[in-house]
Amino acid sequence: MLIRTKKDWELPESAVTSESAYRTHNRRDFLKAIGLGAAGAALASRDLLAATGGFPAKANPDFPASALKPTAEEFVTSYNNFYEFGTGKEQPKDLANRGWKTDPWTVELTGLVNKPVKLDVNDLIKQAGGIEERVYRHRCVEAWSMVVPWDGFALAKLVALADPKPEAKYLKFTSFLDPKSSPGQSSGNLDYPYVEGLRLDEATNELAFIATGIYSKPMPNQNGAPLRLVTPWKYGFKGIKSIVKIEFVAAMPTNTWKAMQSSEYGFYANVNPKVDHPRWSQASERVIGEGSTFIPKRQPTLMFNGYEKQVAALYKGMDLARNY
Ligand code: MTE
Repeated sequence: MLIRTKKDWELPESAVTSESAYRTHNRRDFLKAIGLGAAGAALASRDLLAATGGFPAKANPDFPASALKPTAEEFVTSYNNFYEFGTGKEQPKDLANRGWKTDPWTVELTGLVNKPVKLDVNDLIKQAGGIEERVYRHRCVEAWSMVVPWDGFALAKLVALADPKPEAKYLKFTSFLDPKSSPGQSSGNLDYPYVEGLRLDEATNELAFIATGIYSKPMPNQNGAPLRLVTPWKYGFKGIKSIVKIEFVAAMPTNTWKAMQSSEYGFYANVNPKVDHPRWSQASERVIGEGSTFIPKRQPTLMFNGYEKQVAALYKGMDLARNY
């Protein structure tokens, strides 16, 4: 008999959205999205779903949809930060879907590794062993939050594929560069390409995830198609979208937002209610999709966004106010 011990991050089943209701809803949305009405439902067999990059993914029982109530999909796909497609929250959905091509897509693993490789994203997913679903909190440095059901694979699998050399201490992630398709890049609203980084031990933490989809569907362009980083204990800007290169390096890379304004954005970007942004408090957060326009729902910010047990050891002895 298999007895599964509950993991620390599994919250009580009180805030549960029924998983079957949730999945039925997803399926309906998916059919709508691909233009199949009720008559086409019979066609929407596993084959059809599977044809879209390993979907539907199996839920990882350690990160179940029933543990956190996912934010309604329409908010997650229409309230975005993707500066390559505008600085407004509503712009990316429109501007990232005006001919920007995310298929085919090549990803390079390079730098201080024994097995450098450049391959198509679908081959990478296969080599990583396929995809699974994990539901994580998502907290932006701007003090808003969501809960997102991500599909993808553990970043640790990708690290294992590259087989880092002992000198490799950090991962440097680089996003795409295509000013013709990206109004933000052609206007230069940030320095591009967008770059992020993690320490190697952060990258191999069990929570670090490469997402290739949300809500059991391939990643929408505005959310970072075809693959992005998800580090749920850190502010959202660490979650670099539309990755083309992951380089294993010896020195701490400078990430885009730190390069932009180092007094406000650091390398670590760990969610911390006690370390305020210089211009606003981080003690609480606005919950997207909950409450009303006039009275938005707010809730206290959790240390490491609620993932303290999984990640606190990574920062033992570090001054978190200095290493923001
Ligand atoms: N990645 C790229 N390439 N460009 C960006 O502008 N914005 C970041 C991060 N990844 C960004 C990016 C920020 S500030 C946040 S909060 C999250 O993506 C937002 O992810 P979401 O739009 O899926 O909520």
